[in-house]
Amino acid sequence: MLKQLTISQLRNIGDLSVQPCSNINLLLGENGSGKTSILEAIHLLTLGRSFRTRSLKNVIRFGEQKFQVTARTETDMPVGLQFDITTGVHIRLNSSPLKKLSDLASQLPLQYISANCHQFFEMGPRFRRQLVDWGVFHVEPSFNFHWQSYKKILQQRNSALKKRKPEAEITLWDEHLAQHGEQINALRIQYLDKLLDDFRLIFTRLCSGYSSAEFSVRYRPGWAKETNLIDSLGVGLERDRKLGYTRTGSHAADWSFKINNADPAEMLSRGQQKLFYLSLSMAQGKSSINSSRDKTILLIDDLSSELDLAHQEGVLSELESLPVQSFITSTEMSLKQIVRPEKDKVFHVKQGQIV
Ligand SMILES: Nc1ncnc2c1ncn2[C@@H]1O[C@H](COP(=O)(O)OP(=O)(O)OP(=O)(O)O)[C@@H](O)[C@H]1O
Ligand SMILES: [Mg+2]
Repeated sequence: MLKQLTISQLRNIGDLSVQPCSNINLLLGENGSGKTSILEAIHLLTLGRSFRTRSLKNVIRFGEQKFQVTARTETDMPVGLQFDITTGVHIRLNSSPLKKLSDLASQLPLQYISANCHQFFEMGPRFRRQLVDWGVFHVEPSFNFHWQSYKKILQQRNSALKKRKPEAEITLWDEHLAQHGEQINALRIQYLDKLLDDFRLIFTRLCSGYSSAEFSVRYRPGWAKETNLIDSLGVGLERDRKLGYTRTGSHAADWSFKINNADPAEMLSRGQQKLFYLSLSMAQGKSSINSSRDKTILLIDDLSSELDLAHQEGVLSELESLPVQSFITSTEMSLKQIVRPEKDKVFHVKQGQIV
């Protein structure tokens, strides 16, 4: 959670300072006023990258040399990120320089929900894996160890396959790869089962037409379900040698939620698809506070697109009851009448400033 946020020379923002509240922060303003840029600044600060561009140069305000974002977290810890055209990225956590951005990300769980999030159903398995792994990472302390170990071993095995090494130099990695893979698998299954329960409650409140529907998880571990990873690696060895990489394993897992055993993408309207993704993110935010980490931050860009006012109100009221800090942008001025003035905050954004 962020207590205080300062942004300078980023997009159309010159110097901006805000004191967000711990619940809903509504950023209202006209097109091009700088709302998404504020979300982009928070995203940059916590993850070190933008959701709009690969090149940090593009984020710097036209004509300037660097941009900077700083904040204070729930525990009053100062964090900061600066990007300078000549010297590159500088990150600070608690006033000391940081080498690894992942240290910051693990301190501040953050989810960005784009205006086009109804397109979730068109995304590939990689996106879905990242989503579930984000959740497991923030809930289950051992996940990162298994995942990092798995990735390293997989790299070694793939390199042996690519170099056409003898069989023994490839299968040498299998036992450890399988051990970590099975752990990752178990953690993902456990997380998805819990996530489905939280998701179902939120989604059916937002889409009452589905309140008596049946929801289920379909999960594919990345290898044939009836076997285990070690055996699958053995069975797939000749194929892997031909391909030059390992095809089966946790890196090939996939999952989906089904409604009445069918694909939600084929029955939900566009607005409902957006509500589906929002419910998923809110459920993830809810479960990630079970861990000892900081409160989850949700960045919701353009809540109003695809949703009528009643459903926007529904989303806001779900957020009121969740232990997450949200930053929500919209051009819909009437939203300020929906939030609770004693708990939430409304910011009017105009030409890169809060007015
Ligand atoms: N590097 C930059 N330097 C200065 N201004 C920029 C830069 N990049 C983009 N802009 C401008 O910054 C402004 C803010 O853009 P932003 O996407 O934050 O607006 P927004 O409030 O989210 O608008 P919308 O409601 O249309 O989504 C835009 O006018 C954009 O053209
Ligand atoms: Mg925008």
